[in-house]
Amino acid sequence: MLELLYNENNLPKIDTLKAKNYDDADAAGAPGIKRIGILTSGGDAPGMNATIRAVVRAGINSGLEVYGVTRGYHGLWKGEISPIGMRDVSETLQRGGTFLMTARSKTFQTDEGVLKGAKMMEVYGLDALVVSGGDGSFKGARALARLGVPVIGIPGTIDNDIGCTEYTIGYDTAMNTAMEAIDKLRDTASSHERCSVIEVMGRRAGYIALNVGIATGAEVILIPEVDFDFNRDVIRVILDGRNKGKKHYIVIVAEGAGNATEIAYKIEEQTGIESRPTILGHLQRGGSPTLRDRTTASLMGVRAIDCLLAGRYNRIIIEKNGKITDIDIEEGLAASKTIPSIEIENAKRLS
Ligand code: F6P
Repeated sequence: MLELLYNENNLPKIDTLKAKNYDDADAAGAPGIKRIGILTSGGDAPGMNATIRAVVRAGINSGLEVYGVTRGYHGLWKGEISPIGMRDVSETLQRGGTFLMTARSKTFQTDEGVLKGAKMMEVYGLDALVVSGGDGSFKGARALARLGVPVIGIPGTIDNDIGCTEYTIGYDTAMNTAMEAIDKLRDTASSHERCSVIEVMGRRAGYIALNVGIATGAEVILIPEVDFDFNRDVIRVILDGRNKGKKHYIVIVAEGAGNATEIAYKIEEQTGIESRPTILGHLQRGGSPTLRDRTTASLMGVRAIDCLLAGRYNRIIIEKNGKITDIDIEEGLAASKTIPSIEIENAKRLS
């Protein structure tokens, strides 16, 4: 929807917004950026607090003032904006969720909402905005960028589904949380000789399901990227396993590939093996971030500040070939990625 609203031919009119000159470098060499805002948007992800902390600390240490915007874009257009200091981010690195809170703002999906957001930035004297979130959040940032507001995006979503980056903050923690839960489910599936069908998050992507499936030794992994035949790829695999002496079974289904309750029902009906569904749901979004998420969030936050200081605006901070770098927001949003077929093949060879 945002894609349509913000296409080139449908740009909002901004004659009321003051044109800013981002070329007049200040003493520190930062090209006109003095006060920045940070918000978290969309679904929360473990490591968002570490992102905020990094932006605040690296920003202030570089001579910038940092303001926190609560409740994502919703708080932006409503003016929920206040300064954040060094001490405000103490003890946040290890905490899950986002202390700035987050929202999926419907208003910000309209031209009017974006304009209101840009005006509110002017009211608070914010020269640039750092946005931590997923694709939808970056589309909001791009809309602001097209109005002339400098923005930086930092990928924060458990789904790992942002096309321009190999890694998104929160993904590792979510997978570890899911893995621990599935290990527990395996214990009880084993005691009862049952089939445990576990639905994991990921929206339309199967990254969590595939890797958690490998890590837990699942018999079946269903992901949206791969078409499957239920009889051949689920029922037959389970029956073959039983004929070889298996006593319990783990089936992982990505939420974009099917529904655990329906799948468990069909497995029990067709095989006679008692089956139980578990939807891990929002459990996967909470918890203390892993080392991977804390360090990635911290280094991406620093990179965001570096971009602003260098006058490199409208960028998404990404991981490419294992290194943290940045890409133009338009280019980044146009990029796509998919799970390499070798990874899918390897998972099959392990089942
Ligand atoms: O994008 C993160 C995510 O957790 C997805 O995996 C899931 O589909 C969605 O958000 C759930 O959104 P909500 O928290 O709004 O129900």
